[in-house]
Amino acid sequence: MKKGRVFSGARPTGRQHIGNYLGAIKNYVALQDDYDCIYCVVDVHALTTMEDVGEIRENTREMMLDWLAAGLDPERSIIFVQSRVPEVLELYTFFSMITPLGRLLRIPTFKEKARMQPDNVNYGLVGYPVLMAADILLYKAEVVPVGEDQAFHLEFARETARRFNLLFGQTFPEPQIRLTTAPLILGLNGVNKMSKSLDNDIELAASPEQTMERVMTAFTDPARRYLSDPGHPDVCNINHLHQFFTDSADRSAIQEACRKAEIGCVECKRILGSNINKALEDFREKRAEIAAKSGYIDEVLADGASRAEAIAKETIFEVKQNMGLI
Ligand code: TRP
Repeated sequence: MKKGRVFSGARPTGRQHIGNYLGAIKNYVALQDDYDCIYCVVDVHALTTMEDVGEIRENTREMMLDWLAAGLDPERSIIFVQSRVPEVLELYTFFSMITPLGRLLRIPTFKEKARMQPDNVNYGLVGYPVLMAADILLYKAEVVPVGEDQAFHLEFARETARRFNLLFGQTFPEPQIRLTTAPLILGLNGVNKMSKSLDNDIELAASPEQTMERVMTAFTDPARRYLSDPGHPDVCNINHLHQFFTDSADRSAIQEACRKAEIGCVECKRILGSNINKALEDFREKRAEIAAKSGYIDEVLADGASRAEAIAKETIFEVKQNMGLI
């Protein structure tokens, strides 16, 4: 017996990197054991920023390859693309009628996005959290695994459930946020969060050679200028990354050697690169296998959409009934 329903969504950002894996995907995979999970590629949300619009489908495919190769299981979970289940847009419209505009304008993520794209502060950008609430509540999800940056949106979704229930009778559970516990993964520059747009990432699907090359460009302890200088693993991002890919005995030995200037940064990075490659070997093999099965991703997504739609239709029927439309 499963503990309840999980829903999470991610924008179609194409190939995923090790930060995405450690921060989100790994958690999605684990939740499948205990919950009925629904994972959604939110292509309509992607339209609010109009970045990479021409690439949404290609980015969806690349992201799906990573998800499936990492262990998201279409037999156990529903995996689908948001726009293929149009009921979410109905619920989005209904929710928009009970959402005070001022509430949306005060959401910090909206203000941040409006600042970032002052020439495109579109209506959909204001409604972003309403669509996200519709995603979650359409499936009556109880648990939503997201990063800290989505906390305001989750709070809004909970409020929307409460407001709807108050106005039209008990319909939706209040979804619980489940913060991903993975520590912050910094990018290769050791300053910002690992991210594709900052080009400081290591893609899961990179070849072993590319991975090694990327790791070699990474910043290390800034105070260690010469090989003979003692290093400071505590402030070195390479040491931080070792924690996920190198077993703890090896890691302690490397730290010790670094502090005594017995091992250089190049060597330390070579070990990290090689361990990342080892950790991703099975993943990469599986990814290539899936990529070679023509039509497979489309089948998975079509099946996911039809299973999602069955749930969505029930909710919409109930919503329309409760709102007095039918
Ligand atoms: N807003 C989320 C993000 O940018 C993506 C998202 C859309 C989402 N709908 C969702 C996450 C529903 C969780 C549940 O990462």
